[in-house]
Amino acid sequence: MSAADFPIDWCRDQFPALKRTVGDHPVAFFDGPGGSQVPQRVIDAVSGYLGNTNANRGGRYATAFESDELLEAAHVNLAEFIGTPDPEAIVFGANMTTLTFALSRAIGRTWQTGDEVIVTRLDHDGNVTPWVLAAHDAGAVVHYVDFHESDCTLNLDDFKAKLSSKTRFVAVGCASNIVGSINPVHEICRLAHLVEAEVFLDAVHYAPHGLPDFTGWDCDWLACSAYKFFGPHVGILCGRPELLKLLAPYKLRPVTEELPGRWMTGTQNFEGIAGANAAIEYLIDLGKQVGSLSNTMRPLLSAAYAAIADYERGLAAALLTGLLAIPQIKVLGLTDLDRLQDRTPTVSFVHEKLTAVEIAEQLGQLGLFVGHGNFYALQLTERLGLEPQGVTRVGLMHYNTRTEVDRLLHALRSL
Ligand SMILES: Cc1ncc(COP(=O)(O)O)c(C=O)c1O
Repeated sequence: MSAADFPIDWCRDQFPALKRTVGDHPVAFFDGPGGSQVPQRVIDAVSGYLGNTNANRGGRYATAFESDELLEAAHVNLAEFIGTPDPEAIVFGANMTTLTFALSRAIGRTWQTGDEVIVTRLDHDGNVTPWVLAAHDAGAVVHYVDFHESDCTLNLDDFKAKLSSKTRFVAVGCASNIVGSINPVHEICRLAHLVEAEVFLDAVHYAPHGLPDFTGWDCDWLACSAYKFFGPHVGILCGRPELLKLLAPYKLRPVTEELPGRWMTGTQNFEGIAGANAAIEYLIDLGKQVGSLSNTMRPLLSAAYAAIADYERGLAAALLTGLLAIPQIKVLGLTDLDRLQDRTPTVSFVHEKLTAVEIAEQLGQLGLFVGHGNFYALQLTERLGLEPQGVTRVGLMHYNTRTEVDRLLHALRSL
């Protein structure tokens, strides 16, 4: 299917928020990397859960039966999405950051003085500080892998140089939430496993643009957040079942051996999990819309993501070409149109005269919603001397259109 055939009208019809206006201006949501909009079926699933199925786990009555059934279905669907054959390896929680802190606290207890941990300067702080604090508590050494300043791609040679027989753990993002660079995570896992280090992948920014592949990438841990891929505010962690069973979680008694209960703390956000499940159903439906005849989930999700990537690349090419032609603007990260497969359509820039917040405010009044600041990608903004103002971030999603991109470029030229 070519990008021109992408079912954009069908997609946009699913998302009620896209009908919003600011004054006379239709809203163009370029703030997806901070949280995507949601399809109607996600809203219905959240309110339907609360309206009809609201119950705690394990009760012996209708709402509890239905609730348990729905939550089990969510584990199955999210496992298909993340690419693991083990629904019980899916752990739900408040958000990626909270789940990562819980995991780092448990893993950190297995580290000792002299052990080494690798993080990167391209990552969101949610995949840096939890590991740095755990390493500090254990007396382990932390190494920061650098990125190439010219195009903000990860410096793989630096990673190789820092990897050694002392490395216990590598934390790396699938894609940068500020400059969009996609990391070679499969290769990183391969190299880390040669020295018997575990790998934790942060797929939060990647997941709305590419289908996570837990098994194919051969990682040990992966986290993402449903509110970035068209669902509500729920975090998802996936681990190798043998590691989830071996590692001792911080948990109320009784600490069950059984997965996923072993790692899920407190009463869950059941309505949010119901919404996350509906987000996967939306993506499966998109797979059908783009012509997949499969009736199994993973191929349908793959078809949806292939179409999303293709369509988003067309938008990204238009956005980058337009931004590069504005002399006052400096785009960060990969701008080579032949390398769009190596980045998500998340584009950040700085302006010669205007601060990021001034630009976001001016555009906001025109119904053009962009982000400003550092988005917790602090290692990058500090390294590039962009603090305290940060950058303006335009995050494209598959529900954006070429008309919206043209409107944005026109507004930026007239600032
Ligand atoms: C790449 C990346 N990692 C981690 C996070 C943190 O996710 P959460 O808000 O679910 O804690 C974000 C949030 O923006 C992110 O973009």
